[in-house]
Amino acid sequence: MSTATTVSTATTMVRMLTAYWVSRALYTAAKLGVADAVRQLGDGAAVPVEQIARQIAVHPSALRRLLRALASAGVFREEGGPDGPRYGLSPLAEHLLSDAPCSLRNAALMYGEEMSLAWHDLPSAMKDELPSWDRALGADHFGYYQQHPGPARIFDEAMKELGRAMYSDDAIASSYDFIGALGRGATVVDVGGGLGRLLACILQRDVSLQGILFDLPHVIDGARRFHEGSPGAAPVAARPEHLSRLSFEAGNFFERVPGAADAYVLKRILHDWPDDRCRTLLANIARVMKPSGRVLVVEALIPSGSEDHFGKWLDLNMMVVTGGRERTEEEFAALFEGAGLELAGVFRSPTALSVIEATKRACPARGA
Ligand SMILES: C[S@@+](CC[C@H](N)C(=O)[O-])C[C@H]1O[C@@H](n2cnc3c(N)ncnc32)[C@H](O)[C@@H]1O
Repeated sequence: MSTATTVSTATTMVRMLTAYWVSRALYTAAKLGVADAVRQLGDGAAVPVEQIARQIAVHPSALRRLLRALASAGVFREEGGPDGPRYGLSPLAEHLLSDAPCSLRNAALMYGEEMSLAWHDLPSAMKDELPSWDRALGADHFGYYQQHPGPARIFDEAMKELGRAMYSDDAIASSYDFIGALGRGATVVDVGGGLGRLLACILQRDVSLQGILFDLPHVIDGARRFHEGSPGAAPVAARPEHLSRLSFEAGNFFERVPGAADAYVLKRILHDWPDDRCRTLLANIARVMKPSGRVLVVEALIPSGSEDHFGKWLDLNMMVVTGGRERTEEEFAALFEGAGLELAGVFRSPTALSVIEATKRACPARGA
């Protein structure tokens, strides 16, 4: 390798090795509420760093160094001023605001807190492919959230934010023809539907659709508050006119799911679990769904080549956090087959997620 090539690859490598510095800095800005302070103080204009530091009670020089680094990455806007540098919001910084429609602030907290501890122990997950989350936090991912309401709220909010900003639930709901496939008056169960944003978007597609939001008890409590507390007030809650068609059911999907529905949506559920758990869950659905029903899995499809794809990184995240995985189309087909279902179609959405449709197998595989 020539000296020039070595310098260039070494520089690239060091940037990759230290990429977590960027995410720690973003996490810190999110945790401190820097973007909210800048907006409150500046109302669109850049603000002297001392003022921001006073507002959030941190050391001005430390904050100046944090903001200088983040501004160099395009997060925050730096302007010179007579009294030193001033900082304003850039389009990227708006994602760190707590109440912007594009907010990813809870996602920043979710990735930066417990999840980063699980990543820290990636080398040990290489030995047994078991989630290092459990070793680092003393409970499995969803069990931990059942015991820790604060982090659980952050996780549920982060899921809602990602559903709004990155995996647009509206775009996913419109990439599948619910009425064409299921007919009018169909019942759709959102299995592990979180706070129910996707289901609210589906119900808005047609006034005849009925929805059942199914999740763990603590999540269903939060979802009820979210939709019934101020229906339609939050931009993602069901509108009052749709609320009567939305019902809530708490339970464990490894034990049972609501019966006799026309469609079972599973958005970002199967990627949480290893194959044997997915087959149990899918078989529970196959057992009780209508014979003409559909299972609609909403997940990233991993391409088979070495092309750049965010799902390949998400796959590592699933390995360390929950013990789950991202899958190829062939891997989904095999999962369906082992649960008495068969792959019927793939519907791409403008997001990174596709709708993967399965129907009941005419002749279920033995043992399913
Ligand atoms: C990755 S989140 C996805 C949430 C939602 N579908 C979305 O895309 O925003 C996984 C969801 O599965 C739920 N969940 C996990 N284990 C469950 C179980 N055994 N029974 C029912 N729901 C469960 C969690 O509470 C959480 O809401």
